[in-house]
Amino acid sequence: MLRVGMIGWRGMVGSVLLHRMREEGDFSGIETIFFSTSNAGGKGPKEATDGGVLHDARDVNKLGCCDVLLSCQGGEYTTEICGPLRGSGWKGYWIDAASALRMSDDTVIILDPVNADVIQNALVRGVRNFTGGNCTVSLMLMAVSGLFKAGLVEWMTTMTYQAASGAGAAKMLELVKQMEYLTEPAKAHPSENALEIDRVVIQAQRDSSLPTKEIGVPLAGSLLPWIDRDMPGGQTREEWKGMAETNKILGMEPPVPVDGICVRVGTMRCHGQALCIKLTEDVSLGHIEQIIAESNPWVRVIPNDKESTLRCLTPTAVSGTLNVPIGRLHKLQLGPEFLAAFTVGDQLLWGAAEPLRRMLRILREHLGQRL
Ligand code: HSE
Repeated sequence: MLRVGMIGWRGMVGSVLLHRMREEGDFSGIETIFFSTSNAGGKGPKEATDGGVLHDARDVNKLGCCDVLLSCQGGEYTTEICGPLRGSGWKGYWIDAASALRMSDDTVIILDPVNADVIQNALVRGVRNFTGGNCTVSLMLMAVSGLFKAGLVEWMTTMTYQAASGAGAAKMLELVKQMEYLTEPAKAHPSENALEIDRVVIQAQRDSSLPTKEIGVPLAGSLLPWIDRDMPGGQTREEWKGMAETNKILGMEPPVPVDGICVRVGTMRCHGQALCIKLTEDVSLGHIEQIIAESNPWVRVIPNDKESTLRCLTPTAVSGTLNVPIGRLHKLQLGPEFLAAFTVGDQLLWGAAEPLRRMLRILREHLGQRL
C-alpha cells in the first residue's frame, strides 16, 4: 500500500486539502502518516495510520519511509527539508504548494486539467518533484488555457484583484477586524450623509489603532497595488510569476509574454483577474467562447450582460466552489484582435489545494499501472 506523509495539514491550505481529500475518498487504499513541526507525539486526525501518532516533520528518516510526501507547510520548510531528504537517497515523490522548487528543472508545476500531458511525460521521465502553481496563474489558466493551446494568444496582460487568503489566514482575520474597526465609528455616529460617513471611515482607516499588525496597512475599504517583493524592471515577484509559470505549466517554447499589475483587495478567498489578450488572429467571439467552454469541466462562460455578470462573476458567487467563471468577454475598441475578459476563482481550491490532491490520484494511477 502506498505510504503517504502529510505535512502542514493543520494550516489553512492544508485544512482545505484534508477536507477535499475526505470529500473525494482519497484516503482509502493508502497508508497516511501525519507529521507536525510543533506537536510531534500528539494525536493525528482519524485517517492517521501508524498508531495515529504525529511524527516529527524534521525527522528525515521517518519522512524517508514515505513513498509520497504531501506538504502544505510553505517554502521555508521545502527548502529546509527536501534537499537533505534527497541527499539521504530518498526516491519518493514530493508534492507541495510552495514556490521554492517551482522553477527548478527537476520540478513540474501541476494543474492537471491544463497540463496533464506535461505531468504524464514527467512521470515517465522519472520526475519526482511536483508543485502547485501560483494561485493567480493557476486560476487564470483554468479559465483561458484553451486559447493558449489553440495558439491564439500573442500576448496577455492580467490585472489582478487578489484576496486576503493568498497572503495567509492571519491576513484574512485581520481584514475582518479592520472591517469592524471601520464600521464601529459609523454606527456610533449614524448619519444619512455620505460625506460625513466617509470622513468618519477615512479617519478610522488612518487611525494608528486600526489593526495592521499582519497586513501592515489598511486593506479594508482600500486596496494594495503591491504583492510580494520587488524584482528588476519594476515588476513585483507576483507579477514576474505570471509569465514564468504560465509558460512552464503549458510547456510553451518560445514563451508567450504575460504581464500586468497585481493588486490585493479586501475579498476573503477569491481572486479576480481582468485580462486583455492580444489574439494572433481575428477570431469570432462565438468561437472563443466555445474553445474556453470546452477546455475543462470547471470553467463557466458567463454571458456578457449585467444580470449574469453580477449573479455569477463575483467572489461572493464563487467562494467555496470549484467553478471558474469567465465573463465580460468582448472585443476591445483597440481592434478586433484585442479580447477583454474577467475571471474569478477560489484561491484555496484550484489556486492551492485541489491540484495537490489530484496529483496524488494521478500518481496512484501511474504507479498502479506500473505494478
Ligand atoms: N501569492 C498569492 C497571493 C498566493 O499573494 O495572493 C498564492 O499563490
